[in-house]
Parts: sequence; structure tokens; C-alpha cells
Amino acid sequence: MPQTRHPAVESVRILVDSSLQQYPIAIGEGLLSRLPALLDESGLGGRTYFVISNPLVWKLFSRDVATVLRNVKPLLMPDGERFKHLQTVNRLYDGLLRAGADRSAVVIAVGGGIVGDTAGFAAATYLRGVPLVQVPTTLLAQVDAAIGGKVGVNHLLGKNLIGAFYPPSLVVVDPRTLGSLKRREFRAGLYEVVKYAIMTSADLFTRIQAGLTALFAREPAALTPVIVECCRIKADLVSRDERESGPRRLLNLGHTTAHALEAITKYRRFRHGEAVAYGLLVASDIAAARQFLPAADRARIAQLIAQLGPLPAVSDLSTAEALEAMGRDKKVIKGKLHFVLPSAIGAAHVVGDVSAKELAAALKRLGMRA
Ligand SMILES: NC(=O)c1ccc[n+]([C@@H]2O[C@H](COP(=O)([O-])OP(=O)(O)OC[C@H]3O[C@@H](n4cnc5c(N)ncnc54)[C@H](O)[C@@H]3O)[C@@H](O)[C@H]2O)c1
Ligand SMILES: [Zn+2]
Repeated sequence: MPQTRHPAVESVRILVDSSLQQYPIAIGEGLLSRLPALLDESGLGGRTYFVISNPLVWKLFSRDVATVLRNVKPLLMPDGERFKHLQTVNRLYDGLLRAGADRSAVVIAVGGGIVGDTAGFAAATYLRGVPLVQVPTTLLAQVDAAIGGKVGVNHLLGKNLIGAFYPPSLVVVDPRTLGSLKRREFRAGLYEVVKYAIMTSADLFTRIQAGLTALFAREPAALTPVIVECCRIKADLVSRDERESGPRRLLNLGHTTAHALEAITKYRRFRHGEAVAYGLLVASDIAAARQFLPAADRARIAQLIAQLGPLPAVSDLSTAEALEAMGRDKKVIKGKLHFVLPSAIGAAHVVGDVSAKELAAALKRLGMRA
């Protein structure tokens, strides 16, 4: 019985405010086994649960989920960013309709950010919206994608172009699920963790640096507090600014460059977090060149990113192409590129005056060609 396997599941509860509802993020080792109680506490007890997942993730966790949730109906979507599109959402609608899902249905997304975003969009639109529960199983999804209510899919012309703000009713983060994650996927999530640290917490930065071995070993004592801290940071920012007109924009630290690198390599070369790692290097380089960020902090950021492991090459990528892609970024408002720059390890600001020249110089210093 799962209850005896995990006698005392200690969990942390963080509340997120949204325009639709306030919702909890429950974080704890082995929390998957407490899914029914958590659903009950969120007012979702006794409903029909539709789990949306992918074959790989479902193989890993179906036993845990099916043991605790009776009559769960899994709908599996194929694995991979290229399946995060409207056709998949359509198939999910088909599955929900065929299974007779009515307004008592609850969609439970079990998987990484791709499952969460796609299932979330299906939940947001099916019967004009049925409750959504996020059960993220990658580090990136646990600290980022599952929180904040952004759901959506890609369009042939660009990533995340079709979507909605649709807050979940509950987020269940069980760090134990990360044990099976490939090292590269885990690292991709760690770069987002580093982003949070640079944005808001010098202390978190130091702890990541000091605890790298334990983090990579996914030791609960090291990993869980870091996840909790990142969830708190994101929960705080999205609670204050759901629609990303103010402080939530800080979360885009490193992302202007990241999105450009992902786009010019057709989303094939980098895991999103790896592109973010380059983005963090570029943002700190620009900030240091302006003497906005102390050189010593820039060096520490570069050192930590190097310590986390190798990144895919950028030396064959064109600076001009990257700049062009940045010009098409969703964050261009009235022709001006809003850029987030760190002013210290632990503080970041949105600035509106980063020039193409500064950007080009930083991309070249990163090793990209003209
Ligand atoms: N909504 C948001 O606010 C937000 C924020 C950041 C990223 N995203 C989106 O998230 C997506 C990326 O998410 P991701 O990095 O989680 O990638 P992903 O969902 O593709 O997961 C990575 C890989 O790990 C596998 N996997 C998942 N859980 C596992 C586990 N516990 N053990 C072993 N393998 C496991 C997946 O099947 C997949 O092959 C992108 O589409 C991005 O746009 C959304
Ligand atoms: Zn990101």
C-alpha cells in the first residue's frame, strides 16, 4: 500500500493567486501517493479523472497513479516538442468526447512541460474549460512550466503562438519523480534554477554552486528545498502579475537570446534550458559591459554555467540571424526589445534600451559567427 511505503509525506504548500482562483502548489517527496487527498482538499474529489500523459512517462508512473486513483482514464499523446500542436489537442478532444467526459471531468497532466502545456490548453478549451491539475515530472516543469497558468501549443510559424492563461486548480510536485530523468534533461531544468537565483537570490546561487554533486545525485535533502524555493519565486511573481505586464517579465531573464537560438536551430539543437544558459551568459555579458553588473558576478555566473556541463555548440550560428529572430520575439513591444539584465547575483531589471550593436557584440563574444 502506498501509504505504508511513504508513512509520513512531508509537504510544503505554496498558494498562487490568479484571476480565476487561488490554487496550491503541493511539494513533497512521494506526494504522488497522496493525489486523492490533495484532489479532495482542492474540492475535486469524486469527479472523473482524465490523465493526459505520454507513453514514456505513463510507463514510469501509471502504477503509482493507478494505485491511488481508481477508474483513471489515461489519454496518451506522443512525446516531443513537434507534437505540441493543435492536431494533438484535437485528438485529446476526441479522446475526452469518446470517453464521455462531461463537466465533472478533471484533466490531470502528468509529464514534462510539453504534456502540461498541451493538456492544459485542452483543459482550458474543452467544454469552455474543465479543472486542470498539473503533475509535473521534469525539473523544468516543476520549477517553471506547471506554475503560472500559461498553456498552449506551437504553430508552424512559431513556438507557443496559440494559447491561453488558464490557471490550474492544483499543482502536485513530487521530486521523487525526477529520479528517472535523463541527466541532460535534469541539467536543462537546472539552468532555469540558476536563472531564478541570478534574478532574486545570491544565497540560492551559492547553495547551488556548493551543492552541485548532491543536486545531480538528486538527493532529496539538496533538491527538494531548491525546488521549493524556485516555486516560491515563480508563485510570488505570477501572483503579483498574472498577465506579464510588470514583475513577471523578470522571468524572461536569458529568454530573448534563448528563444532566438532555439528558433534559428529549428528547436532541434538545444533543450530549452540549454538555450537559457546561453541567454544568461549573454545578459550578464551585456550587463557587465555596461558596468551595470560587477565583473566578479559575471565571472561567477559563467563559472557556474560551465560547471553544470557542456552546452551544444554555437560557433556555426549566425549573429545576424539571431538578431533577426529577436526582432520577431513576442517581447518586442512597439518595435522596442525589452531585455532583462542582472545588476548583481540576486537582482535583475527590465530595460528598454539594449541596442542591436550591444547584442551583436555579446553574441560574438559568446563565440557566434558574424
Ligand atoms: N507554460 C509555461 O509557463 C512554460 C514554461 C517553460 C517551458 N514551457 C514549455 O515546456 C516545454 C518543455 O518542457 P520539458 O523541458 O519538461 O520537456 P518535455 O516535456 O519534453 O520533457 C522532456 C523529456 O523527458 C521525458 N520525461 C518527463 N518526465 C520524466 C521522468 N520523470 N523521467 C524520465 N523522463 C521523463 C519526457 O517524456 C520528454 O521526453 C516546452 O514546450 C516549453 O515551451 C512552458
Ligand atoms: Zn524558460
